[in-house]
Amino acid sequence: MTTSILKPSGAGRVIVALDTTDPAHAVAWARATGASAGMFKIGLEYFLANGAAGYAAIAAAGKPIFLDLKLHDIPNTVAGAVRAVLGLAPRLLTLHAAGGAAMIEAARRAAEEAGPARPLLLAVTVLTSLDAAALSSVGVSGGPTQQVLRLARLAISAGADGLVCSPKEVAVLRAALGPGPALVVPGIRPAGADIGDQARVMTPAQAVAAGADWIVVGRPITAAADPAAAAAAIAAAIA
Ligand code: C5P
Repeated sequence: MTTSILKPSGAGRVIVALDTTDPAHAVAWARATGASAGMFKIGLEYFLANGAAGYAAIAAAGKPIFLDLKLHDIPNTVAGAVRAVLGLAPRLLTLHAAGGAAMIEAARRAAEEAGPARPLLLAVTVLTSLDAAALSSVGVSGGPTQQVLRLARLAISAGADGLVCSPKEVAVLRAALGPGPALVVPGIRPAGADIGDQARVMTPAQAVAAGADWIVVGRPITAAADPAAAAAAIAAAIA
């Protein structure tokens, strides 16, 4: 089940999160930042508003796409959802590890139908919005780190190619799982930046040093007065 993953370097590590419902904004950001990015991330907000046509408008900028849909349902339904997006040829696709091994195995089998250029499957473990008290209220004791490790091991052994994880988790996951799995890390803020609603952040260079393969950056680029310059500065920081 393991696949050797072509890991990026330099600016190729930068994934720009195009979080908007407005295709004109998203396309403008993609055009402005393409020279300093390896990939663009399309999430639920944009995809539900604009569908496949909106996806194609971003893909036309010529970079691979990270389709961040965080799938979580019974195995048959998730497999169907994976099949439904294979025609769009995303490079990365997310699903929730909490859906269990059978769901992840079904997603992997469905992704394999696309052949060698299939999307890599990334598992989301514990949402960073959930703290120990919130996890306890849904029946998970032991705290976030233990649950992240449990779900990460389950996801990789069931066929996920990697994980989305917070900056604070990346070193512990790299130590636990070795160099193979792709680690994709949001919660990135350039030194001195406004941290917004991200509670635990690292700079681009810190995240890469800790073991991140890709970093996901949204508002520090898209809300900047000059998104092209903001993206270029981040790429330069990890060159
Ligand atoms: O704007 P910002 O850089 O905070 O954007 C981060 C992106 O990564 C958003 O698209 C957000 O949904 C996503 N994300 C995150 N934290 C996670 C998982 C995904 O911020 N734990």
